[in-house]
Amino acid sequence: CGIVGYIGYREATSVLIDGLSKLEYRGYDSAGVAILGESKLTIAKKKGRLANLEDRINEFPIEGTIGIGHTRWATHGEPSDVNSHPHFNGKESISVVHNGIIENYMYLKEWLISLGYEFKSDTDTEVIAHLVDHNYNGDIVEAVAKTVQKLEGSYALGVVSKQEPDRLVAIRKDSPLIVGLGKGENFIASDIPAILNYTRDVYLLEDKEMVVLTKDAVEIQTLEGLPVEKEIFHVTWDAQAAEKGGYEHFMIKEIHEQPKAIKDTMTSRIMSDSDEIVLDDIKLTKEDLDNINKVFIVACGTAYHAGMVGKYVIEKLARIPVEVDIASEFRYRNPIMDEKTLLIVVSQSGETADTLAALREAKKAGARVMAVTNVVGSSVAREADDVFYTWAGPEIAVASTKAYTTQLIAMYILALYLGRLNGKLSVEEFRTIRDEMLVLPEKVEKLIQNKEELQKFADKNHMHRDMFYIGRGLDGSVSLEGALKLKEISYIHAEAYPAGELKHGPIALIDQDIPVIALATQEELFEKMVSNIKEVVTRGAKVISFALEGNTDIEQVSDQVVYMPRTISILTPILSVIPLQLLSYYVAVIRGCDVDKPKNLAKSVTVE
Ligand code: G6P
Repeated sequence: CGIVGYIGYREATSVLIDGLSKLEYRGYDSAGVAILGESKLTIAKKKGRLANLEDRINEFPIEGTIGIGHTRWATHGEPSDVNSHPHFNGKESISVVHNGIIENYMYLKEWLISLGYEFKSDTDTEVIAHLVDHNYNGDIVEAVAKTVQKLEGSYALGVVSKQEPDRLVAIRKDSPLIVGLGKGENFIASDIPAILNYTRDVYLLEDKEMVVLTKDAVEIQTLEGLPVEKEIFHVTWDAQAAEKGGYEHFMIKEIHEQPKAIKDTMTSRIMSDSDEIVLDDIKLTKEDLDNINKVFIVACGTAYHAGMVGKYVIEKLARIPVEVDIASEFRYRNPIMDEKTLLIVVSQSGETADTLAALREAKKAGARVMAVTNVVGSSVAREADDVFYTWAGPEIAVASTKAYTTQLIAMYILALYLGRLNGKLSVEEFRTIRDEMLVLPEKVEKLIQNKEELQKFADKNHMHRDMFYIGRGLDGSVSLEGALKLKEISYIHAEAYPAGELKHGPIALIDQDIPVIALATQEELFEKMVSNIKEVVTRGAKVISFALEGNTDIEQVSDQVVYMPRTISILTPILSVIPLQLLSYYVAVIRGCDVDKPKNLAKSVTVE
């Protein structure tokens, strides 16, 4: 979910709607606003996309210069008008927006019902509205402070009260929240893009910091009411980067941005004329590294797939054992960690709740923690010992593309760095990989230009219900990412399988109705891959293969072959994922799917 709040001199509805439009990546099941006007508190909320709320507000405008807004990704209670935020207390004098999950809401709800409170929705958030009401004695700040003492779980909250029409209160715990500082106006939001049209000066709030906004002042305090001093964070990046700029969808724009994003992520870190690897935010010394005997890479979704490649390359180049884990599993499986462990979390947003929790588990166990993230100042960046920023720029489409390829670049640079630091990687090997990496942007560019072949495939195959993706070694990891892309945006069931394992079960599913996408970019496994492809061809499958230029033998077993520029085997994921992204994109477009905002998903999942 995403929240936004405004207090100032402009019409609040337009500021809030504008802000919410930048936060829709956090969920888009429903949207709503609460506006404080002349001693009136009015809520408008609608199931579905923000456009529905806008229609409603155009029809029945609400005046007022203070307000809070919300865009929802449903957790407790189905997407519906009544479960949408903001929520009211019974007297409709206090309104709340919330991002997060209140874990003890059932208990609190029963207790509030026993006190006579009546509930309208199935949400955990409504509990907060009634609890603030229960604690209200004429001071909304005090009431919110008292309320959060009773809440277990995660929250970023925005609260307004009709009795105090000159202030807005907000607080966070385990859910992101920033404050935007204007002149005669101030803002709160789940993320920076929501307020960039109005200000570039922000405060990044820490857990349990409460902020009280009036139009002319912002005060931050602890729950006990002690003032907190904070540095202003000045945002330097460009708001334009978050606009579509002539492309039909953000996803295709972001696919096209990959050569630049990859280049930016390498710039000033690896250079053609230097054997140094420069990583400004990494403080890990040789001594620290010598003490480390185990690396975990923990992440969710696409970032997890980047982590799988990370395991392969760190083990290969730095010879340290690496385990990759899904954050929601890792955090509850009591993994063996101590001071000799290095935990690398990979997260585009830097706010994914499960990933952040894994980071905290590791810190508790005494491990060293490194964050690979795309968002400066995000929670994982702030809490980690070392940070590696991917310079992909804002990624808006829910299905991740440029974040993934820059995460791969991060994995390669880190592997090179660790390998050089502990001496396991020779300078000659380092140079070979570095030089190949530096020419990847041109090769990616070339692949993107070659999109007709993928369009052709999409034309022929968009009606299928299932597809298989197969590959060996690193191709196996990229297959997983390719299949995820297709599932996410086209709703076609796609399954990725290690090609050699197919015969142990899933091959039973193969027939002429299931296209097989075969990745065969690993030179040393090429022959094995050709045999695996033959196995599915024999069962009637139509195969589209992805191979390196020159490996034409593959044509004999494929219906279509997409060739890719040559590079060294460990770097092929950067190239092979590009046509898979394009393939998913074109299939989804032909199927008429909402490419940038697939159903049931959110870009940043800040709940467990
Ligand atoms: C969500 C998104 C995925 C993303 C995952 C992890 O599920 O839909 O595209 O890979 O979260 O996000 P993160 O910001 O931690 O990389």
